[in-house]
This record gives sequence, C-alpha cells and structure tokens, in this order.
Amino acid sequence: MTYYENSCKQLNELRDRQDYLILAIESSCDETAVAITRGRTVLTDVIVSQIDIHKKYGGVVPEIASRNHSIKIDHAIESALNNANIKLEDVSVIASTYGPGLLGALLVGMCHGKALAYTLRVPFMGINHIKGHIAANYIAAPSLDPPFICLLASGGHTEILKVNGFNEIICMGATRDDASGEAFDKVARLLNLSYPGGPAIEELALSGTPSYPIPRPFKNEKHLDFSFSGIKTAVVSLLSNARQKGEKISFSDLASSFQNTVCEILTTNAINASKMTSINKIALAGGVGANSKLRELLTIACNKENIELFLPPKSLCTDNASMIGIAAYEEISCGSAPSDLTLDADPSLELDR
Ligand code: KG4
Ligand code: ZN
Repeated sequence: MTYYENSCKQLNELRDRQDYLILAIESSCDETAVAITRGRTVLTDVIVSQIDIHKKYGGVVPEIASRNHSIKIDHAIESALNNANIKLEDVSVIASTYGPGLLGALLVGMCHGKALAYTLRVPFMGINHIKGHIAANYIAAPSLDPPFICLLASGGHTEILKVNGFNEIICMGATRDDASGEAFDKVARLLNLSYPGGPAIEELALSGTPSYPIPRPFKNEKHLDFSFSGIKTAVVSLLSNARQKGEKISFSDLASSFQNTVCEILTTNAINASKMTSINKIALAGGVGANSKLRELLTIACNKENIELFLPPKSLCTDNASMIGIAAYEEISCGSAPSDLTLDADPSLELDR
C-alpha cells in the first residue's frame, strides 16, 4: 500500500473519533507556531513571535521571516511535545497551513509537516489559514456549530462570511481595497507607531477621544462590502492640512477617531449580515478581532439586537497553530481527504479550497 493509500485508510478510521492527537504547524507570516490538539481541545500551543525582528523594518520582511521559521521550528515542535507530555509517535495526524500567506514562510511549515507525516506514516493535512481563523471560535465555544455569520478581519482579509458548514462558506461582502488590519498598520506608520500597527493604535487611542471627522464609505448603500483606503487617505489629509496651517494634531485623538470609524463599520456590516440572513449568531475571526474597541462595539450591538456573539480569546484571534489543529479536525470530521505530499504552498489561496 502506498503512503497516500494508507493515509486515506487511516483518516477514514479517525472520522467519527475525537480522541486522536493532531500536531499542527502555522508559519504563514511572522509567527512560528506549533500546537497539539485533540477534537476541539488544545493541549498546548507554542508561539515563537518574530515581531521584534521585523519591528526595525516597519513590517514583515518575507525572506527574514522564512529564515527565522527554519531556525525556530524544530525547537517549537520539541517544546509542544514536551508541554503536552507526548511523543511524536502518539500523534495521528500532522497539519500545516498551506495558504494564504508568504510563500517562503508557508513552505517552511509545510515541508516540516510533510516530512514528519511521511516519517511517522500518518496522514498530512494542508490547511487553509482563513478556515483556521474561523475554526478558532470552536476552541472557546466547542458547542458552536454552523450556520453563523463570521466577521473575518485580519491583516490580509476583511470579509463578512455566511458559514453554512465547515466547507460551505459564502462571502457576503469583502473589502474592495485594503484589509482592516492593513489599514491599522498603514495608519500606525503615519502616526510614527511601530509594527504591528493594530495593538499600537489601540494603546494610543486609550488616551484619546474620537474628535476628528473621518468619512465613512458607502453610506446608505445596501451591500456589505468594505473600503478602508479612503479612511487612510482622510488621516493623511488631516495630517498634511494641519502641517500646512501650522496646527497641532493630537495623535491620540486621531488614533481614537480612526479606530472608532473602522470598528463601527465592521460592526455595522456584521449586524446587517445577521439581519439579512436571520442568522442570529456572529463569530469574530482574525487579528483585528483582538481589538478591544471592536469587541466592545460588537458586544453592545449584539446585545441590542439579541444576537449571540462569539468572541475567541484575543490570543486566538491573531495567528496561532491551535486554530490550524482544530481546522484539521473539522476537515477530517466532514470527510475531507488527506493532502497528497505533492500539495504546494499557495500564497493567494481562496476560501473555497
Ligand atoms: O490574523 P492576523 O494575525 O494575521 C493575518 O492573517 O493577517 O492579523 C494581523 C493583523 C495586523 O494587521 C495587525 O495590525 C492586526 O491584525 N491586529 C490588530 C490588533 N492586533 C492585531 N488590529 C487592531 N487591534 C489590535 N489589537
Ligand atoms: Zn492570520
């Protein structure tokens, strides 16, 4: 029997079980992360962050990210096994993110995952990073099941998703230009804040009031799309007008105004999606989901509209490997085949795969 035939057979035997261990690897951007999961439970989650390395460049440098993944990954795997008090031989499935993300960074996690799976003779599952972000909700709320509306807000994506099943996801609205996280990162740079911009803006906004007018795109339009580049341009204009007139700008007030506008737009579209579909469950996903203002606005709006809100812990909103392990478990439970070892990394992987 070939390795792949054997993987199919092994996976079929696992489909209805929740008691087997998955070793999951996430390396799509600047976190080298390894988790051990069982069903919707996380045994351990190791994250080696490269933020301090990339900070001095003002953003992630892809080549430096891949090189550091290569350096850190073996130790991260070893730490995860030690933390969970298990041996490699106890693992039944290996899962790695295969896209979207930075090509070189993805390849490091995938090659390690494939090599481990082949050596251990266990199935390998290539996992879609975005489905991972959605699956992070199942960790804090194991009883959550589709259908639900998912507000996905990360560094590369901002979408309103109707999740009918793990592999049945309909995009109801998406950004037409920048992603919300990207907008946070770009505006942070304008305000002389360091990378990553989201947490830096959130901190600065704590001491500000949302007093600057920031125009909202698509006012009175019925669709659920987003646009954030005009909001960034509004910040640029406020700064340059003030500079020309010799007026002082309060960066904390500007950070607060920008943050409020973005979070209000995200909240409004998520609530509208729930109303349009009569699905009264909203789940949050992606790095911007760690933002306290967004979590506060969603909580208030969902309470008002009687919508059940699922907020994963902040650490599960930003990139981690637990969400990849849970997504692999969901793929297996809903009948997906193991990945062939010829599977390639896909930097622009769409949600339908
Ligand atoms: O999901 P994520 O960790 O990686 C991607 O898949 O993109 O999201 C990273 C993005 C970055 O743009 C970062 O600035 C943003 O999420 N982010 C935040 C916060 N924490 C991370 N944005 C706003 N507030 C935060 N607290
Ligand atoms: Zn992510």
